[in-house]
Amino acid sequence: MHYEVFTAPWIAAWAQRINQNAAYKLAARQWEWPLLLVLEKDADAGVAHERRVYLDLFHGECREAREAAPQDFTNVPYALSASLAHWQEILNGALDPLMAIARGKLRLQKGSLFTLARYSAAAKQLVATAREVDTLFPNEAAPQNFPANTNGVFISTREAFATTSARGLRHDILPMRLYHKAKKLGVWDPRDLDFSRDREDWQKLNDGERTVVLHLTTLFQTGEESVTLDLLPVLLVMAKENRLEEEMYLSTFLFEEAKHTEFCGRFLDEVTGPHRELSHFHTPAYRKLFYEELPSAMQALLHDSSPAAQIRAAATYNVMIEGTLAETGYHAYYAMLERTDLMPGLRRGIGLLKRDESRHIAYGIYWLSRLLAEDAVLWLVLEQRMATLLELALQSINEVFDLYNPMPFGLQREEFINHALQQFSTRMSRLERAKSQSVAEIEQEHEEEI
Ligand SMILES: [Fe+2]
Ligand SMILES: [Fe+2]
Repeated sequence: MHYEVFTAPWIAAWAQRINQNAAYKLAARQWEWPLLLVLEKDADAGVAHERRVYLDLFHGECREAREAAPQDFTNVPYALSASLAHWQEILNGALDPLMAIARGKLRLQKGSLFTLARYSAAAKQLVATAREVDTLFPNEAAPQNFPANTNGVFISTREAFATTSARGLRHDILPMRLYHKAKKLGVWDPRDLDFSRDREDWQKLNDGERTVVLHLTTLFQTGEESVTLDLLPVLLVMAKENRLEEEMYLSTFLFEEAKHTEFCGRFLDEVTGPHRELSHFHTPAYRKLFYEELPSAMQALLHDSSPAAQIRAAATYNVMIEGTLAETGYHAYYAMLERTDLMPGLRRGIGLLKRDESRHIAYGIYWLSRLLAEDAVLWLVLEQRMATLLELALQSINEVFDLYNPMPFGLQREEFINHALQQFSTRMSRLERAKSQSVAEIEQEHEEEI
């Protein structure tokens, strides 16, 4: 999705980036003044009217960002203006913002150059975050012939079809190999699972054991519902980028998440008792992850499909939720039920679900590796995102253990924290390799045994 520079959606996408940029937060921790940025009118270059951006920047945070109102000029202590050509140079990284002021390309209409100079690192970070937004300049052609809609958002048109051009469908690349596997392995029916012995076993469990099985299954149930609801923006991004093979694979991915949601629901309804309110099992860190972090990272793709936004989405969905937390959950089921030979129906379903999930994670690793192979600098975005999420993931495991004393089935906190860290570190090591690989190598990579 492209946004035309200095329009409301572009400003919103930029502000979001600013608030996710730790380097900016540090560099601007003492800056506390609103700022006005002006794109000068130039009808020949497609700027029919002056465009103004109002940014309320305070101690490393962007508290407000919008198109400026006329009275803002009076109220802000800093105002900077430039022509379209000079903003393009600055935003493309060809011209340093402070150098632009020194050379008169960026005019300081209000404010002190002396103060601004002290914040040159913060200014560089502001520009770097603006570069993460898919920006369209008025003097450049829109991606195709479609005009901008009223929100300033451009829609891509199609140049050719993969299947009827020399390109053809690429059966050799990893997403397509996963697609072929999914057609064979992902077609199990949750309704075919036999829960008769599970119902008998449920009656034999003591209260603590029942609660912990119900707790874990509730976390899986809501996890599966979340990933079903939150996957669609990824399909839209791949469709927009004409990645036909990836969209084909993702069609199986979404179907499988829907089945997992059905599977957990069937177990809860038919084994653990009548349908009831279970959200009290959602602890604070779990809530933060599934009510906020996951949906916001995925829905951000609807208005921003930049590589950095894709990294944040895949890191959240595939590496942390699927690759670390869910993997730790399977380990818990195994520890509770496999060793004791309880609930064969549930175990069978979890085994099938886990096999589907290993394809999902393989795709996520592929997606991230492809982005990192294209631009190794994105590793910093990945690391920054993972730091926040890892803390939440470990906290959510700890919060479960905090509720039980003693923990039924003899489950050990350390074992689960270590398992989560092990899963996380395996994924990150794999991803770190991608920084020095080519996209062609990533495409031919062999997924872990599925
Ligand atoms: Fe799933
Ligand atoms: Fe999944």
